[in-house]
Amino acid sequence: MADKQGESQQMWGGRFAAQPSDIMQSINASIDVDRRMVLQDVAGSRAHADMLAECGIISHEDNEQIQTGLDRVLEEVKAGTFPYRTELEDIHMNVEARLKELVGEPAGRLHTARSRNDQVVTDFRLWVRGALTESQAGLLELQKTLIRRAAENTDTIMPGFTHLQTAQPVTLGHHLLAYVEMAERDRGRMHDAALRLNESPLGAAALAGTGFAIDRDMTSEALGFDRPMANSLDAVSARDFALEVLSALSIAATHLSRLAEELVLWTSAQFAFATLSDGWSTGSSIMPQKRNPDAAELIRAKAALIAGQFASLQGAIKALPLAYAKDLQDDKRLVFEAFDTFGLCVKAMTGMIGTVTFDADNMRAAAAKGFSTATDLADYLVRELQMPFRDAHHVTGRIVAAAESEGVDLAALPLQSMQSVEPRLTEDVFSVLSVEASAASRQSYGGTSPARVTEQVQLWTTRLGLEAKE
Ligand code: ARG
Repeated sequence: MADKQGESQQMWGGRFAAQPSDIMQSINASIDVDRRMVLQDVAGSRAHADMLAECGIISHEDNEQIQTGLDRVLEEVKAGTFPYRTELEDIHMNVEARLKELVGEPAGRLHTARSRNDQVVTDFRLWVRGALTESQAGLLELQKTLIRRAAENTDTIMPGFTHLQTAQPVTLGHHLLAYVEMAERDRGRMHDAALRLNESPLGAAALAGTGFAIDRDMTSEALGFDRPMANSLDAVSARDFALEVLSALSIAATHLSRLAEELVLWTSAQFAFATLSDGWSTGSSIMPQKRNPDAAELIRAKAALIAGQFASLQGAIKALPLAYAKDLQDDKRLVFEAFDTFGLCVKAMTGMIGTVTFDADNMRAAAAKGFSTATDLADYLVRELQMPFRDAHHVTGRIVAAAESEGVDLAALPLQSMQSVEPRLTEDVFSVLSVEASAASRQSYGGTSPARVTEQVQLWTTRLGLEAKE
């Protein structure tokens, strides 16, 4: 750019006599964030230039120069020598300005029939498409790890909770597979979002389309989009795709956070269900005995950050009139950060789950506390003595009270004590009072019995194609 006296040096500076102030440049520049879209920006420019040449809008010679120049830009990016310059505002003007330095005049023809408004959101959709693939792969690794640990623990008994009060015995495998189900839906949301966002905004130009006879199908296809977006105003201003992925990431992170919270509980001295490996624990600088679950705690916090990123972008968009406004520049910071955070969290969770040691004895002992087989006793009274369930519930409540006053678990309560509440009970009742019998009996579809959990492990193994590896 010529440094003419009395004329702005900015690419858009024709009508300006003076430079923007330093603070204006600082608030306006996005290069520190959007430089991450450099590959997408080059890909978009390649497709656009090819199309312009094919449609006779620029010459084939100019296109060749542009393509050669963009090759060199890519080389510089890969070599780490590409000069990212703040005074050039964003990645689009950085690439174009460098191209100009490399090939001269033809570079100035690249921006024909295009605007940064359609360019930026084309780059952004391409970037998000790639990032979604990575997030799904991360979740798949977590699922595989959960399935492996579930397979090792199909008959490991632990307490199942409601209200964090001991409810009924469950199997650890069953518990871990619950998170496999959640992760599957999370992957599904990302997959769906990727399908919906895969339309090309390129060629919408600033907002109204262009008077040049461009071929939007050609650029759409070259960039792997399914079709060009049908409304140019929508194309440059829609960010629901970004909201949708933030929402999907936020929900997935919420699931990670729930599992993280369980790790925090389970690794406490009070639960003592699990011990994180050294690689996933941290010590205290003052209390030598500590093994802290920092990664799990940070996953809990980071799930809140991602939820905040969704709320921030929604807030930025909800009152924006059509079409483009600069508010939309800050969308990328939120989305990039959410993907980075999520990627880190899912890897940390996979690492923790893969190496955590479960204490089956402590889990079983905890499962036996809190009269966790009371429902089994009530069901037994219904089955064997044909009591209505409500009556059985009441009788069981009195037997639990008897056990409580004798200070023993149901399985250890003498038969006479039970008979003083319900005389028809015999020794046979003890067959349903152990935690193993309780879990084994829950064979309804989706239930916690080792038999059902083993089936589910097998189904997941087939579904995710795990047996080839194993
Ligand atoms: N850096 C801008 C962004 O990220 C590119 C679009 C600028 N368009 C404009 N009309 N100023 O949104």
